[in-house]
Amino acid sequence: MYLKNIFSPITIRGIEIKNRVRMSPMAVGYAEDGWATEVFARFFEERAKGGVGLISWALWPYQTVHGYFPWVFDDKFIPGLKLVADAVHKHGTKIVGQVGTGYGWSFKDGLTEIVGPSGVSLLGRPSTPYRVGTPTNRQRLAERPLTIDEIHQMIKGYGQSARRIRAAGFEGVELMLGAGYTLARFLSAETNKRTDEYGGDLDGRMRIHREIIAEIKKQAGNDFPIFVKISGAQFTKGGYTVEECASEICPRLEALGVCAIDVVVGWHEAPRGMMSNSVKPGEYLYLGEAVKKKVKIPVICGDRTNDLRDAEQAIAAGKIDMITLGRQLLADAETCQKAQAECFDDIRPCMCCAWCLETVDTPCICAVSPRTGRETIYTREPASKSKRVVVIGGGPSGMEAALVAAERGHKVTLFEKEDQVGGLLELAVLAPHKEDTKFLLDYFRTQIGKSGIDLRLGKQAIAAEVLAMNPEAVIVAAGAKPFIPNVPGITDPKVVMAKDVLLGTKPVGDRVVVVGGGMVGSEVAEFLAPKCKKIVILEMMPRIAGDVTRALRFDLIMRLRKAGIQMETDLEVTRISARGVWGVRKTFQHGPNEDFYEADTVVIAAGNKALGCLFEEFTGVFPVYTVGDANKASNVKDAIKSAFLAAMEI
Ligand SMILES: Cc1cc2nc3c(=O)[nH]c(=O)nc-3n(C[C@H](O)[C@H](O)[C@H](O)COP(=O)(O)OP(=O)(O)OC[C@H]3O[C@@H](n4cnc5c(N)ncnc54)[C@H](O)[C@@H]3O)c2cc1C
Ligand SMILES: Cc1cc2nc3c(=O)[nH]c(=O)nc-3n(C[C@H](O)[C@H](O)[C@H](O)COP(=O)(O)O)c2cc1C
Ligand code: SF4
Repeated sequence: MYLKNIFSPITIRGIEIKNRVRMSPMAVGYAEDGWATEVFARFFEERAKGGVGLISWALWPYQTVHGYFPWVFDDKFIPGLKLVADAVHKHGTKIVGQVGTGYGWSFKDGLTEIVGPSGVSLLGRPSTPYRVGTPTNRQRLAERPLTIDEIHQMIKGYGQSARRIRAAGFEGVELMLGAGYTLARFLSAETNKRTDEYGGDLDGRMRIHREIIAEIKKQAGNDFPIFVKISGAQFTKGGYTVEECASEICPRLEALGVCAIDVVVGWHEAPRGMMSNSVKPGEYLYLGEAVKKKVKIPVICGDRTNDLRDAEQAIAAGKIDMITLGRQLLADAETCQKAQAECFDDIRPCMCCAWCLETVDTPCICAVSPRTGRETIYTREPASKSKRVVVIGGGPSGMEAALVAAERGHKVTLFEKEDQVGGLLELAVLAPHKEDTKFLLDYFRTQIGKSGIDLRLGKQAIAAEVLAMNPEAVIVAAGAKPFIPNVPGITDPKVVMAKDVLLGTKPVGDRVVVVGGGMVGSEVAEFLAPKCKKIVILEMMPRIAGDVTRALRFDLIMRLRKAGIQMETDLEVTRISARGVWGVRKTFQHGPNEDFYEADTVVIAAGNKALGCLFEEFTGVFPVYTVGDANKASNVKDAIKSAFLAAMEI
């Protein structure tokens, strides 16, 4: 067998796990007022059926500000937890309940507060980098130091949660000591400044964890396995290092009876990309490897290691014992079983866009998999009647529409005017750090090739031809066209389109002005950075890359700054002259307000304009669905979702 190590069983403190793949805990938010319902059960059941060995499910031992996260602070929630545990057990998958994600707690009055050991914020302002169920009103954003009595209440709360988790039939409990959440903040000397028994040296800072573990054993039983997820290194200025984590913290956790450790990367406040697309697959496995050298219990690691072939190598080399997959299992529930069957081409890849993180405080979505979290709504049953369906355009929306329609039993013809399917994805993958988008493009192309769809490449769909095919439904997925600002000088020969730059079809000078600082403009600027002496991005809106998800944007902006790219916002371009670009600062109140930026080349990245349906002849003849950029110029997430919904409706 190819993935021999991945698909070999492992026993952790008596839990027999069928393979070495663990699903990472993710705050996906599918609960209803804190209750786990069928929605959660079907979500996890699909992943269990898809072959994952162990699931870790994030649960909340306190009341979050909203009820999207599953609560475990009262016995009344046990039946919901059991519903999920039973669903995954049907497929031989084991499940543990994670507690400890978040910055908050709710004490007697039920109000959720942001609490921590000492009230330290590493952001230089009172705020949490991720909400995860914490308050958002300004007055309550600062971390409030916990009293000793409150710490004791929390310890009891963790113990009771573990008891409930066991009562629901879970195999174990997991403590979240990573990412900079409350329990992690006790661990670190940078955030724990307490002078009482819960602070001081490492023993003092780990007192709360010792007491939580003792309380779990007391309430849930001495034999109830306790897993820990911990940051392998903080990556903050005065935070603990990987050496300290591996040599000092993890051996102490092992001595306390922890059965396995998942080593995760960094803290939310750390000034570096951890889950973004600039992180290479497997980049942080070394953190797990360092811990494994210092403990005897199994070490779990992963994060940005989506391909089980990479994980196989890490396990075979003895670096880690288990891999943990997060987002890849949102993108494709069947990742494990497809990998085991060596059908790697059939795995729908996560494109590392972070839309799931963007929606973390609501029911979470996956950009490439509209079914995720909606398994109860969108079942995989075939359509009641097989129909003749024509899809016009082979970009991501057209490809998704064609694949879903074909999977549902329709006879699909797909027209693409170019000689390959892909649409704008072909351009998207040319920018730096877009390897995951390329995986998605490759996936779509392979699946279209295998699908049996009648693919007409190099063929521009024209109304008469489509009408002659007598279709029963048509999906128009013909994309958008670039928006070109109507300003004097726009026809100057030094003005080029973003597309020309990425394809290298037009020469670019030393001094470049990029007009438009959304995702495309920012990525084109980064693409040009190694080739040009001076790059300025001019953006009309108040933020650069405002259409990029927060997790990716933060990393992108850091990279643009590092590359020396000048970024100007609130600036509307008014004219292009022989020497450069003129613009008006929208927020400027007094005096002359025109700015000038020298340029040898002006790159237009001012967005796209939807083309709409374009085929009036179809009106009233058969149902027509206009999807993707053709309907509203946006992104891959919206393209795939609109296409999926259209194909599900036919
Ligand atoms: C440089 C760049 C980078 C981007 N990066 C990202 C990113 O990282 N993440 C993200 O989410 N989005 C990104 N986008 C946006 C994303 O690519 C688009 O939103 C998405 O491709 C829209 O998909 P679509 O299928 O609706 O349209 P398109 O991708 O434009 O596909 C339309 C297809 O229809 C074909 N077509 C048109 N008319 C006809 C006809 N009459 N007959 C047959 N075929 C026809 C076209 O040839 C084309 O292949 C990027 C866009 C650009 C330009
Ligand atoms: C939507 C989302 C929610 C998450 N919530 C949690 C959580 O509640 N607890 C936790 O320990 N990690 C959480 N994580 C982090 C994941 O467990 C994992 O460490 C991270 O996604 C990196 O792994 P990946 O690249 O395989 O996705 C979350 C990640 C995502 C994408
Ligand atoms: S939303 Fe994006 S990052 Fe998250 S799982 Fe889906 S494809 Fe991956």
